[in-house]
Amino acid sequence: MNLPITEGAVLLPGFAAAMGADVMAGVQAVIQQAPFRHMTVPGGHKMSVAMSNCGRAGWVSDGNGYRYDARDPETGRPWPPMQPCFFDLARDAAARAGYPDFTPDACLINCYAQGARMSLHQDRDEQDFTAPIVSVSLGAAAIFLFGGLKRGGKPRRIRLEHGDVVVWGGPARLAYHGIAPLRQGDTRYNLTFRKAL
Ligand code: SIN
Ligand code: FE2
Repeated sequence: MNLPITEGAVLLPGFAAAMGADVMAGVQAVIQQAPFRHMTVPGGHKMSVAMSNCGRAGWVSDGNGYRYDARDPETGRPWPPMQPCFFDLARDAAARAGYPDFTPDACLINCYAQGARMSLHQDRDEQDFTAPIVSVSLGAAAIFLFGGLKRGGKPRRIRLEHGDVVVWGGPARLAYHGIAPLRQGDTRYNLTFRKAL
């Protein structure tokens, strides 16, 4: 089932549910090599969401800004490789949403404990915006905030359950989005796939 959110953006309810256990095993393998950490944002605060990455490029933030880096700044080593089942899942979800031939090289893994949130932002650190974003939710449910291309206005509130996938690209590629503070005591994981390089 494809539920349109706005032009270019779709919710695929439960798309990843059947392979949730495989994906979580992949997450465990990644974080053994590149543990979750709370990154610092420019301005000095630490993010409430804990993060890691796999793939050729990893999204990182520090006091100087945001960037993609081939190496984990905590260890100096390359990020763990993209798990094959991650790549296939992201590619299949993108195709289902109308974006064939998605070749993600970056997978950001977000870990939300109760109270963690992601304020509204655009994903704009990638080199070209023709590729979509594929976002996979696992574990506790959360409210996804999906706004327009400009700051301001009231974002839509979409409840994301375990296994739900959101894909946005084309005219929605630079839409503002975020996650409301997590209410449940359980942990939520999110995998965001992008073509960064
Ligand atoms: C993000 O925008 O990086 C995360 C979105 C989410 O956790 O669903
Ligand atoms: Fe984002």
